[in-house]
Amino acid sequence: MPDSIAILDFGSQYAQLIARRVREAGVYSELFPWDASAEQVLALKPKGFILSGGPASVYEPGAPFIPAYVLDSRLPVLGICYGMQALTYSLGGRVAASSEREFGPAQIETLLPNPLIPGGQQPVWMSHGDRLEQLPPGFTILARSDNSPIAAIGDPQRGYYGVQFHPEVHHTPGGTDILRRYVLQVCGARPDWTPAAIIASSIERIQRQVGSEAVLSAVSGGVDSSVATAMAQRAIGEQLVAVFVDTGLLRQGEAAQVRSALHNTLGVELVVVDAVEQFMTALRGVTDPETKRRIIGELFIRIFERQARQLGTPRFLVQGTIYPDVVESSAPDRAKAHRIKTHHNVGGLPEQMQFELVEPLRYLFKDEVRLVGEALGLPASLVWRQPFPGPGLAVRCLGEITPDRLDRLRAADAILTAELASAGLLRMDTHGGDLQGTAQAFAVLLPVRSVGVMGDQRTYQEAVALRAVTTEDFMTADWARLPHDLLARIANRIVNEVPGINRVVYDITSKPPGTIEWE
Ligand code: XMP
Repeated sequence: MPDSIAILDFGSQYAQLIARRVREAGVYSELFPWDASAEQVLALKPKGFILSGGPASVYEPGAPFIPAYVLDSRLPVLGICYGMQALTYSLGGRVAASSEREFGPAQIETLLPNPLIPGGQQPVWMSHGDRLEQLPPGFTILARSDNSPIAAIGDPQRGYYGVQFHPEVHHTPGGTDILRRYVLQVCGARPDWTPAAIIASSIERIQRQVGSEAVLSAVSGGVDSSVATAMAQRAIGEQLVAVFVDTGLLRQGEAAQVRSALHNTLGVELVVVDAVEQFMTALRGVTDPETKRRIIGELFIRIFERQARQLGTPRFLVQGTIYPDVVESSAPDRAKAHRIKTHHNVGGLPEQMQFELVEPLRYLFKDEVRLVGEALGLPASLVWRQPFPGPGLAVRCLGEITPDRLDRLRAADAILTAELASAGLLRMDTHGGDLQGTAQAFAVLLPVRSVGVMGDQRTYQEAVALRAVTTEDFMTADWARLPHDLLARIANRIVNEVPGINRVVYDITSKPPGTIEWE
């Protein structure tokens, strides 16, 4: 069992980020609701605790508090924002309710040498209402800012620390190092959470779960299902059959890439179902986005079920569920927001078939899934691919879906992708400072035609919108400030190289109020 840190979630929108930062330091961490049972949390055998922020005020009736087992364990504790206030309150300090929030960037100054925060000044991100007024016995002030005279506190004897700011967000550039020092130096955790260790423990778990039974996997072309399938292949080899339904709604070259990566390179037994005609027929004349999603979802399940029956209805099904899905579905206040994003998912599990699920990625964040995918031998171009919606190009081909329009969209999208890749902007760098590159970038074929002129000819053809966003969580997003020269080159290439398109526009809407996709 790897060394680990338990993170208690007091309702912070950043709780998952804390867990990700700790894992980036090479230490396994798990998130628990603050009122999870002691038994459940201590089963992890954590080396220390981190208490997240949260919207409450410690003196409020019903406010979340630090469960007794945390302090009884005598393990180190780091409280962030509300977590620090709750820690202070439990240990006999005083928190002042404040009607004014401090929100935004601030500069902190270190007052005392300490294991967490280096000397000097550094920028941090503040987001809090209440503030600390009196320290609990044994604590000293480690850092201050102009608005927060008590910005960080510590009791090195007991390994108790608190920060008023948010070290987990990228607006606190030194935050990852603060968390790293806490888990490695204060908690003494070993950084043994590596792709190789993840793979070894996952293989063992899969083998134990399925024994010698047959296992089915549904491959969508996306990162998660590909990595989950590759992991299952590594664990159980020939017991696994993967099914890939070619809907005709994938991006250029995608179907071929899946076959090459999983079958040719890794040796996965892959059944490719050519269902392009069926999908085109079912979608003929349909323009309403939700109807498109429903038709695609239902047809996918029908085709998949037929395949499963032909394969003798294996007992187990591999699913690429990842940790954020697990965490979000167990946090009641966030479940609603999550549903907004995924209510329309397709390619999912046929509910009436009673598979037992094999979920090799259940405890992994997306970044970890990608590193594990590379370590398993999947190509970087597949593993670092941007997210792609289940209904595929159907929701990017606005209006009626026809083979010609899909070809046009695919060609325009491939030009955008190739140009972004050669400019080094197809990935997003989220580590410190500004968000660079794009988290998601794609072309959308619009159901409008406009007039143009090419040579001496008047044209009346379709328009393409380019959408490129930066985001960390896909719940909110900003449009990417792509260089004008790059946009000019992409537009020029699309109009010249893709027959039927004579106009290119760039989408400059943020989310909210817009969404990332157009449908
Ligand atoms: P929106 O458009 O809601 O997208 O801002 C947020 C993220 O969700 C993806 N998305 C989907 N994913 N099935 C999916 O599997 C869908 O129907 C779907 N619609 C949107 C979108 O690509 C973005 O990453």
